[in-house]
Amino acid sequence: MKDAGYEVAVYGGDGTGPEVVREGLRVLEVLREGGPAPWHCTEYPGGGQYYLRTGREWDPEGEAASHSADAILVGAVGWPGATLPNGDLAGRALVLGLREGLDLYANVRPCKLYPGVRHRISGEYREVWSPKNVDMVIVRENTEDLYTPTRGRLRRGGETEVTIDARIITRKGSERVIRYAFELVRARGRGAPEDGAKRLTCVDKSNVMEGCRFFRETFDRIGAEYPEVERDYAYVDAFAQWLVRNPEHYNVAVATNMMGDIITDLAAVLQGGMGFAAGGNIGTQHAMFEPVHGSAPKYAGKNQVNPFATFLAIEQMLRWLGDRHSDPRLREPADRLERAIARTLASGAARTYDQGGTASTRDAADRVIEAIRGEAR
Ligand code: IPM
Ligand code: MN
Repeated sequence: MKDAGYEVAVYGGDGTGPEVVREGLRVLEVLREGGPAPWHCTEYPGGGQYYLRTGREWDPEGEAASHSADAILVGAVGWPGATLPNGDLAGRALVLGLREGLDLYANVRPCKLYPGVRHRISGEYREVWSPKNVDMVIVRENTEDLYTPTRGRLRRGGETEVTIDARIITRKGSERVIRYAFELVRARGRGAPEDGAKRLTCVDKSNVMEGCRFFRETFDRIGAEYPEVERDYAYVDAFAQWLVRNPEHYNVAVATNMMGDIITDLAAVLQGGMGFAAGGNIGTQHAMFEPVHGSAPKYAGKNQVNPFATFLAIEQMLRWLGDRHSDPRLREPADRLERAIARTLASGAARTYDQGGTASTRDAADRVIEAIRGEAR
C-alpha cells in the first residue's frame, strides 16, 4: 500500500480520446471527494495529432512517466494522415509501444451487458431488460503472434512482390497468459451465466495451425493445475457463431493475439457496442487501461461519443491497483463506480447517439456523477 497515493499517467491522445478522458477524470475527482487522495492523475500529450504538430509521438516527460507511473490510462490514438516514416500509425507508441515496452502480456476485455443498454445485432435497437446472458471476460495474449514485428516486403513490384508476417507463439508468452486466465476464473465470483460453471474456453485454430496446437497443449498442461476449472475448447471460426448464438455459455475465454483482437470486437456487439468496451493491458509490474473504441475522428470535438467505456476502464484500473497493492482505498471506489454506472445505465438517462439517445458525452458523465453523489448522501 502506498500511503502517498498512486500515480496515474493519463494520455488523452487523439480525436475523441481527450473528450472521454476529460469526463473520466471528472468522475475520478468525484470518487475521491471528502477523503485523502489515494491517487494522483497527471495528463501528458501524445498521439498522432501531437506527432503532426511536433514530429514526436510523445514528449520525453510523458514517455518517462509511462514507465514510472503505477497505472496508465489512454484515451485513443490514431489520426488521418498521421503516419510514421515507416508507414506505421503515429501514436502507436502509446498503445502497441506500451504493450511491447512494458510487457503488458494480458489484454483483458470484460464483456457484460448492463440492464438498460441496447444492442443492435440486427441493425435495430433492442431493449434488453434482462441481460443475464452476457457476462464474460476474454483474455487475449498481447505481445506476440502476428503482432511481433517479424514482417517485411520484397519490393520487387509486379507479380513477384511478396509480403510476409510471421506468426510467433512462444512458450513463455502462452504460459503466462493462459495462467492469467485460469487465475481469473478462480478469482471471479461467478461462473458462466448458463449454468454457473467455472469454465475457461481455449479459442484457437489447432485443427490447422502449429502455434495453436502448441497453445492448446499449453492450455491443457496448465489446466491440470486447476482441476476446479472446466476446460472448454472452440475453434475460432465456430467460436464466432457460438459467441453470438449462446453467449451464456461463456465465462472466461483465452486466445492468441490476432484472433483475440477479432473476437473481442465481435463480443463488444453483445455488450451494446464499442461504447461499452474497455480493456486492461496487464503485465507483472505495469498496466494500461483504455476504452477500445479508438479516436473516431468523425466525432472529434463534438461532445457526442459514449464515455462509458472510459468509466469501465477506470473501474478496471482501480480494481487492478487495489488488488495489486491489497489496498481497500481503491476497491471501495471501484465498487461505488460500478454501482453508479449500473444505476445510470438502468435508468436509460444517459443514452448517447450510439444507443439511439440524445445525451452528450458530458451529460452522460453528469448522470454518473449524480449517481455517485446520490449514493454518498
Ligand atoms: C485493440 C486495437 C489495436 C490492436 C490497434 C489500435 C492497433 O484494435 O486494442 O484491440 O490491434 O490491438
Ligand atoms: Mn482491436
